[in-house]
Amino acid sequence: MAKSSTSPAQEVETLPPKKVQEKEIPQKMIYKGSDAGSLDTCLPLIDIPTIDFGLLTSPESSAQELEKLRSVLSSWGCFQAINHGIEPAFLDKVKAVGRQFFALPAEEKNKYARDIAIGFEGYANHIINGEEQAFDWIDRLYLITGPEDRKQLKFWPENPESFRKILEEYNAKMVKLNEFLLKAIALALNLEENCFLDMYGEEATMIAVYNLYPPCPRPDLAIGLKPHADGTAFTYLLQDKEVEGLQVLKDNQWYRVPVIPEAFVINVGDQIEIMSNGIFKSPIHRVVTDSERGRMSLAVFCLPNPNQEVGPVNGVVNEARPRLYKTVKDYTSIFYSYFEKGTRPIESAKI
Ligand code: OGA
Ligand code: NI
Repeated sequence: MAKSSTSPAQEVETLPPKKVQEKEIPQKMIYKGSDAGSLDTCLPLIDIPTIDFGLLTSPESSAQELEKLRSVLSSWGCFQAINHGIEPAFLDKVKAVGRQFFALPAEEKNKYARDIAIGFEGYANHIINGEEQAFDWIDRLYLITGPEDRKQLKFWPENPESFRKILEEYNAKMVKLNEFLLKAIALALNLEENCFLDMYGEEATMIAVYNLYPPCPRPDLAIGLKPHADGTAFTYLLQDKEVEGLQVLKDNQWYRVPVIPEAFVINVGDQIEIMSNGIFKSPIHRVVTDSERGRMSLAVFCLPNPNQEVGPVNGVVNEARPRLYKTVKDYTSIFYSYFEKGTRPIESAKI
């Protein structure tokens, strides 16, 4: 990925604040991707079932719900999870500390500023460092939350005071939820229950990303987050309860993902596409902005440890479905270099 010699403070200052009063936006925020024409158009809603995690475990209903899960992950690659066992009141708290952090003065937030020379962790008001691409209309706080020894607390806000404790608690719950889903997808394919979990391995990486999309005077010109697929195994997204913005691409058509308060939008990442030998699809998605309302989301990226070798699991390669993907290691380190160029990293893993 591109390295920068600027200090974190300088880096944060390279972009003017995202102003709402003006109808003009800085030239370098004007998005010119091939999908730019559809940013501010009327789009259909994604037509996918919700998956009830409670039903996945009950003996009477699990077969039907697992089949729904298999079907939606093989077609769309994403779904909304309800009845997942994490208390709505707790989810509100996890979101509230993010909002409180973003509401702090820039000076305070910049104490946790990303230093791109070191990595992606910390607070930043843009993602891409490259010259060729437009900047996304986004502020981000990116934190590695596990395993324990990879946490860099210097990037973890101490304001609000409860931030660290709440995010740690959230992380523990997400580790469990992810294990549950890794088992469920094996059962959905009639495979041995632990086959994905074993390939996923121990000491997996957990990353929490708070995304803030401030109101944008020109939602037709700027993009919140460019089209991409995630380099994760799974991504667990808590959407803003009021403001829509996430869209998913299928058969060259963009679809809006509706807001279901308290549900997780869960999407397959490239590493589950690889492990499932392409049965499950890592969907391309993007975020558009809103002219009046800011939107905050919290994404949790679950991915194997960088030392773990990841390839198709037993049972997904056969005569009818030859092996389509190589074995990869530390997939995310190649991920961002592709992201900056606007190309899909999964191409590099195809045989
Ligand atoms: C991401 C992402 C979607 C959103 O962070 O990778 O796709 O709605 N976020 O913020
Ligand atoms: Ni994403």
